[in-house]
Amino acid sequence: MRERFIIGVTGASGSIYSRNLIEKMSKMDVDLHLIISEKGEEVFEFETGTSFASFVEKLQSENGGAAIVLENNCDMFSKVASGSFNVDAMVILPCSMKTLSALSNGYSASLLERAADVMLKEKKTLIVAPRESPVSSIHLRNMLRLSESGAVIMPASPGFYTHPETIDDLADFITGKILNSLSIEHDLGTEWKGR
Ligand SMILES: Cc1cc2nc3c(=O)[nH]c(=O)nc-3n(C[C@H](O)[C@H](O)[C@H](O)COP(=O)(O)O)c2cc1C
Repeated sequence: MRERFIIGVTGASGSIYSRNLIEKMSKMDVDLHLIISEKGEEVFEFETGTSFASFVEKLQSENGGAAIVLENNCDMFSKVASGSFNVDAMVILPCSMKTLSALSNGYSASLLERAADVMLKEKKTLIVAPRESPVSSIHLRNMLRLSESGAVIMPASPGFYTHPETIDDLADFITGKILNSLSIEHDLGTEWKGR
């Protein structure tokens, strides 16, 4: 069976990160289930100038390798709402403090939140990329609770030891770190080579 991944996108700033990761994974031989929150759609369009739906349609028409399903965030009848549907890993990129709070409290009011809750209860890989600055004690506690429940907390904060020159280089850094966590090989040059 091909590997199955869910990518959740919320209304935090950083749409270029999700766009970059989804573009890269769309070229892989995997099943991709994409879920975006209502605020995520607004922020994605505001930051990239393209609606998420047309971005996904374009990738689907390019037929890059991945089978891409755009899920409806209101549809609790979706396969990904159930632990019986085998998913290898889920990434939430970027993750708002609101969704972080929902996850750390097991409060699943949307498909995105439910799918992430399922990953936690099934002890599957859940990578959460929070985006906020500064963070409050509440945010930190929510991150700690999620980490203690098995999630990988991966702040969307690129390193600079790779000498990035463009915004895409910065996004590639985050994509590379996420692909490392998913044990997917890549050539994004994020590995430290020593001096
Ligand atoms: C342009 C814009 C940028 C935002 N950036 C952030 C952010 O970086 N982090 C965050 O936690 N919330 C951010 N928000 C607020 C969230 O969109 C808001 O809390 C929303 O309820 C999140 O809902 P969701 O998690 O269901 O997407 C931003 C909102 C807007 C309009």
